[in-house]
Amino acid sequence: TERTLVLVKPDGVRRGLIGEIIRRIEAKGYRIAEAHLRTADRDVLTHHYEEHKGKPFYEPLVSFMSSGPLMALVVEGNRVIEGFRSLAGTTDPTTAAPGTIRGDLARDWGLPVAQNLVHGSDSPQSAQREIALWFPHIHQGH
Ligand code: GTP
Ligand code: MG
Repeated sequence: TERTLVLVKPDGVRRGLIGEIIRRIEAKGYRIAEAHLRTADRDVLTHHYEEHKGKPFYEPLVSFMSSGPLMALVVEGNRVIEGFRSLAGTTDPTTAAPGTIRGDLARDWGLPVAQNLVHGSDSPQSAQREIALWFPHIHQGH
């Protein structure tokens, strides 16, 4: 079985959508293996988004992601990395497909960075790295 790192971003927590997002993950059949509500400091976010360093949206992204509590989750199930990204929808919430988390629940608010409610790891390598970053105490196995 596979694991992925999901974040309910600060917009999702502020809008009271933690339950709705976890409901969709569980309804799909995946299992919540770990959960942690926290406000991320810039240090963890610098590591989390190191692939985006230097891009124009990097600073607004880090500011937004540290703007309030977020919910970090480890989600488990066969092909969950691909499956959660499919549940989440595409990055731009304006055009994300209806039926997806971003397509149903997010939109463009005219802000410098897309507030698109959730993050999901994009590969097995990212998942392993991100789970170790957000949940440093848990056993990395499987
Ligand atoms: P994550 O699951 O958060 O990693 O989203 P993603 O994999 O769909 O997108 P990506 O990793 O490419 O970008 C990370 C985040 O940066 C996105 O979720 C957006 O919030 C923001 N972002 C990415 N690309 C753009 C862009 O072209 N313009 C703006 N304004 N924001 C962007
Ligand atoms: Mg990404």
